[in-house]
Amino acid sequence: TKREPTIIFIFGGSGDLAYRKLVPALYNLYIDKYLPDNFYIYGIGRSEYSEDQYIDYLKGGIASFSRRKEALDETWKVFSPHIDYIKADLEKDDTYQEISNKIAEKEKEWNAKAVVMFYMSVAPQLAPMIATKLYEHGLTADAAHSRMVFEKPFGHDLESARALNIKLGEMFEERQIYRIDHYLGKETVQNILALRFANALFEPLWNCNYIDHVQITAAEDIGIESRGSYYEGAGALRDMVQNHILQLVCMIAMEAPVSFAADEIRNKKLDVLKAIRRWRKDEVHKNAVRGQYGEGWIHGKEIIAYRNEKGVAPNSPVETFAAVKFYVDNWRWRGIPFFVRTGKAMQSKSSLIVIEFKPAPDYAFPPEAGETWRPNRLIISIQPQMDIRLRFQAKQPGPQMILQPVDMVFSYTDAYGDNAPEAYETLLEDVIEGNPTLFMRADQVEKAWEIIQPILEAWQTRPPVDFPNYTPGTWGPEDAEALIARDGYNWTTLPK
Ligand code: BG6
Repeated sequence: TKREPTIIFIFGGSGDLAYRKLVPALYNLYIDKYLPDNFYIYGIGRSEYSEDQYIDYLKGGIASFSRRKEALDETWKVFSPHIDYIKADLEKDDTYQEISNKIAEKEKEWNAKAVVMFYMSVAPQLAPMIATKLYEHGLTADAAHSRMVFEKPFGHDLESARALNIKLGEMFEERQIYRIDHYLGKETVQNILALRFANALFEPLWNCNYIDHVQITAAEDIGIESRGSYYEGAGALRDMVQNHILQLVCMIAMEAPVSFAADEIRNKKLDVLKAIRRWRKDEVHKNAVRGQYGEGWIHGKEIIAYRNEKGVAPNSPVETFAAVKFYVDNWRWRGIPFFVRTGKAMQSKSSLIVIEFKPAPDYAFPPEAGETWRPNRLIISIQPQMDIRLRFQAKQPGPQMILQPVDMVFSYTDAYGDNAPEAYETLLEDVIEGNPTLFMRADQVEKAWEIIQPILEAWQTRPPVDFPNYTPGTWGPEDAEALIARDGYNWTTLPK
């Protein structure tokens, strides 16, 4: 397809995100012929790099992180001439003058107006400053051609997110602002819409009459590693629940869209966020659990306690695990709990969504038939295993009527191989095309903060007394088991 000429400025061009995710994603898009014929990438950073050094540095990132590194040397020869580095102080006006010159230069060379993407791959406090400078220098005046990408966290709480939206709203049109939630770019997450709305089979059952409860897990099997100083200002609730997990809730709970237009999808998701029950502060302890990992081992590797990580306070109250019970108070979901949990240093890396159906209305089999009876379940495994499995009862072979749960499995790898595009590929391509469907609109971000704000506040006023309260390599604190056991359930993990 024909795409408009595009110039991409990556603020934080020498940083980790650019190295591991952004440039490898652009490289993969290039190989798959999704980039426009005319494109150019400028990394902007404070590190000292010559153009050649920068290009070599990025090549290293691609060698480690691209899924398309075959023939890297040859491809690099044609890809790397599209990259340059600008060493710059982001607070200085000269920098923005230089950016403006670069744009003019490229547009002249291409003899065409270019789409300009400004990617804020910088510490969150810098992004508004950069955006303001871009505005002041007139670099965002053409709303149809200039786009800014904001990484999370978008704000630190409800109030700061609102203030940031207001500030950006005074300078830019909403359509210029792309707030990234990389979970939405994942193939398996996008597929939830296909599963639900391109099949007649599931949707009639997709409501409180047939679904018993929903579970969402996003577990990681590594500690905080080098991100201690960022994480101290965040915690699991801000880092994962406010954004990724609530977005998964939206994908599961939203009503059918009438079209695939960006605002149609985003409106339907917004409706879910509006309907999620806000816990009163005094209800929080019953419905939300926090945890922090101590020292231990995962897969034979030693993990140091969170409080001993670099950049972390020795008595840090920050949670590395959170579990919350939500309700979506609307016609479709009234009374159905959504249990979510996320944590660092857990038993395995696994993100999955479990839809558990209500029992069959009657059960005529002889009693011994049903000893292993289990409710029907649909398990959507987001990563690293990518599959969807539907669990139902089957008769075990043999003379007696003995039932056993079996799984009908759709595996992405079996169907499509294991080279699915990465989330950042999809999302960068969307920005180039000007498609904001998978990005957060201002009101979505604020509603999501509204939901977790009372939990943040309750936790802040009552510092944890039992931290660290879980061992690396487990599924988190015991309280999280109790949270779900109170309603008679267990957390579901993937069958081995
Ligand atoms: C990021 C969080 O948004 O998502 C990280 O800041 C987390 O703390 C990461 O590790 C998880 O992403 P993924 O794609 O590995 O599940």
